[in-house]
Amino acid sequence: MPNKIVYLNGDYLPVEQASVSVLDRGFLFGDGVYEVIPVFGLKPLRVDEHLQRLQSSLSRISLDNPLSNQEWKQVFDQLLERNPGEDRAIYLQITRGVYPVRDLKIQPDKQPTIFMMVLQIGSIDMSQLEQGIETVTINDFRWHACDVKSISLVANVMLREQATQAGVVDAILVRDGYVTEGTASNFFMVKKGVLITPPIGQYLLSGITRDLVIDLAKENGIDCEIRPVAETELESADEIWLTSSTREIAPVVRLNGKDVADAEAGPLWKKMINIYQQYKQVLRQAK
Ligand code: PDD
Repeated sequence: MPNKIVYLNGDYLPVEQASVSVLDRGFLFGDGVYEVIPVFGLKPLRVDEHLQRLQSSLSRISLDNPLSNQEWKQVFDQLLERNPGEDRAIYLQITRGVYPVRDLKIQPDKQPTIFMMVLQIGSIDMSQLEQGIETVTINDFRWHACDVKSISLVANVMLREQATQAGVVDAILVRDGYVTEGTASNFFMVKKGVLITPPIGQYLLSGITRDLVIDLAKENGIDCEIRPVAETELESADEIWLTSSTREIAPVVRLNGKDVADAEAGPLWKKMINIYQQYKQVLRQAK
C-alpha cells in the first residue's frame, strides 16, 4: 500500500510528513471551512457546485479564496493521480492560517492553510444500505449559520454522541418544531408519493447530494416539494431518507423506537437509489 499523499499549502507529501503549526487558527478556533467531494472513477461529482459552496462558505467567514476554480481542479487531478482508487472522496479544508498571537481579530494579508486528502470510501454496499438505519429526533441546538460548511463541528459531534447514547446511528435534528437536517446529512420525507425536503437557509447546509436528488427527482417525474417539515409530520411519513456525499441516500426505517411505515426501505427510495447509481456509473465511465 503506497503512502497516502496529501496536499498542504502547495506541496504533495506523505501524510506522516504533513504538519501544521499549533498556532493555526483552525487548531485554536476551528476557524476554517471544508468540503467533501465524492469522486467516481476520475470524475469528481458536481465539482462546480462544490466549489461554489466553498466560495459561499469562505465569503461568509470573510476569507479570500486562495485558488481559482481552475487551480482547484488542477490540484484535485494531481492529488487523485497520486492516490489511485475507484470510489474516493476529496476532503479539503482551508483555515485562516497561523497568527503569531491568539486573538480573534482577523488580520489582512495572512496566508491561509490549505489542506487536502483523498478518502478511500469504497463502493456502497447496496444490500447493507437497503437495511436502512435507525434514528431519533434531537433538539438542534447549533448556531444560526448552519449554511456555512465550518470545520467547527463540536456541536455536530455532541449531537451524534447523543444519538449513539440512544443506541442509534444518527439523529434527525429539530429546531422549534421543524426538521432541519441530520448530524452530517440532509433530510427528505416521502408522503403520498411526494418527495419533501426543508428549504435551505441558516439552519441547514445546502447539500450537494440534496440538490442532486431534487434534480434527479424532477428529471424522472417524481413530485418534489421544498417546504418546512413539522416534527409532528414524521410519524405519518411513508419514507424518510438522509442524504450526503459519503452516505448517499440512506433510508431511515425506525424513528424514536417506532417503525417508519413498514420498517423497510420504501419504493421511492428504491427508484431513486437506482437513478443515483446510474448517475454515478455515467461519471465512472466518463474520460
Ligand atoms: N457532510 N448537512 C451537514 C451538517 C453535513 O455535514 C453534510 C455533509 C450534509 C450533506 O451535504 P453533501 O450532500 O454536500 O455531502 C448536510 C460531509 C459529508 C461530512 O461532514 O463528512
